[in-house]
Amino acid sequence: MKLALSPLQQGIVNFLQSNETWLRPLLTERIFDGVDVQAEGDKLANPAVTYPDYYKQDFHSVDGGYLNKDAAITYDPITKQILVPNETFLRDETAAAIPADAKTVLDLGCGTGTATRAIASRLTSAQVTGVDLSPYMVFAAQLKAKSLSNISFIHANAEILPFDDNSFDAITASLLFHETPLHAALNIIKEARRVLKPNGKFVVFDGAQGDALAKLGGNISSSLFLEPYADQFLSSNILDLMREAGFSKVESRPLLMIYEIRTATK
Ligand SMILES: C[S@@+](CC[C@H](N)C(=O)[O-])C[C@H]1O[C@@H](n2cnc3c(N)ncnc32)[C@H](O)[C@@H]1O
Repeated sequence: MKLALSPLQQGIVNFLQSNETWLRPLLTERIFDGVDVQAEGDKLANPAVTYPDYYKQDFHSVDGGYLNKDAAITYDPITKQILVPNETFLRDETAAAIPADAKTVLDLGCGTGTATRAIASRLTSAQVTGVDLSPYMVFAAQLKAKSLSNISFIHANAEILPFDDNSFDAITASLLFHETPLHAALNIIKEARRVLKPNGKFVVFDGAQGDALAKLGGNISSSLFLEPYADQFLSSNILDLMREAGFSKVESRPLLMIYEIRTATK
């Protein structure tokens, strides 16, 4: 599905395409050298998974979005630059919001697994599972987490999780909800509540919503990075969706003015 681009966005896409030869090495990690990410992702893809329409859009100037292997190959170098002032700090703050005694943790929309690894490294006696709808992201996450024994990844839609009710002590989602339309965000939050154990904690890290600074940041990022659902994210509130899904103790901690860590209890 193609997005209608503004002249600025079209200019960025043209620049990226015509400068691909020298940009690609800057945006690609060496860990993927000599690895056929397409074939490896296709091998682990669950054939029962179907893709919702919203997911088949272009995201971040990548044709086909997360269903293009290039999304997985370029994600980490770009994210490291975008997550100001320091990605490691933000990942650690998110992991620190999970109860220290959690033994089973699920990370929704785990992408290449950077947040998932931060959780598994912090909670060494927990079993941590990452779920993502892109088989290429899942493959990248597996490759990058090889040194950790308490982590695993699966290809699944977080709107229809392949887990029993009451399975996890804690569930996280980092940078997921600004990428989904509101109806999908609500489905995912309801699924998170279903598979959480009673009193389990849900932790959501993403951009701030609602105030003028958040809107400015969101508008810049949706113009520059082609974020198809940033407008919906900025005009809504994840805390309301958590309440609507039945969570209690719904709270938000602003982080460095442009991010928020939201927490809720089943
Ligand atoms: C911006 S990335 C965030 C990745 C990672 N959590 C992080 O913090 O870097 C959003 C991720 O959400 C995934 N995603 C979007 N919709 C999803 C869904 N319905 N189920 C599972 N993953 C989904 C995308 O494939 C992508 O990897």
